[in-house]
Amino acid sequence: MANYKLQINGRTYQADVEPDTPLLWVLRDDFGLVGTKYGCGIGACGACTVHLNGQAIRSCTLPVAAVGTQKVVTIEGLSQNGDHPVQKAWDEVDVAQCGYCQAGQIMTAAAFLKNTPKPTADQIDNAMHANICRCGAYHRIKEAVKLAST
Ligand code: FES
Repeated sequence: MANYKLQINGRTYQADVEPDTPLLWVLRDDFGLVGTKYGCGIGACGACTVHLNGQAIRSCTLPVAAVGTQKVVTIEGLSQNGDHPVQKAWDEVDVAQCGYCQAGQIMTAAAFLKNTPKPTADQIDNAMHANICRCGAYHRIKEAVKLAST
């Protein structure tokens, strides 16, 4: 057990946890940031995606000990009032079916569009293809990412 101070959504959080505890579980169980979801636990679905220094990463496979002073942003900290362009596009296109994967999808899309503000359809496909949606809402997901980029 060790004490970790993490920079999350512009605040400092502290937890006493085992060093190999995945960031996902520290976010959810220790800090109550439950917007980040557990899907597979092996880095294969994208439900647990958060930003680490602005890059989309899978928090289920990142040990808390590896986070250090890097800035973490979760879905709760992406915008003040759910008004990030990707979140607004998500609402407008009515993407969610069950909604379970959407926090991870939105975090992936937000990091992607920051680096690629005017993506082609192929670039959107490539950026989003590894985020799994069991409802199969892929068409609406891509449409929302496109809308957020315009
Ligand atoms: Fe992390 Fe699936 S829960 S990638």
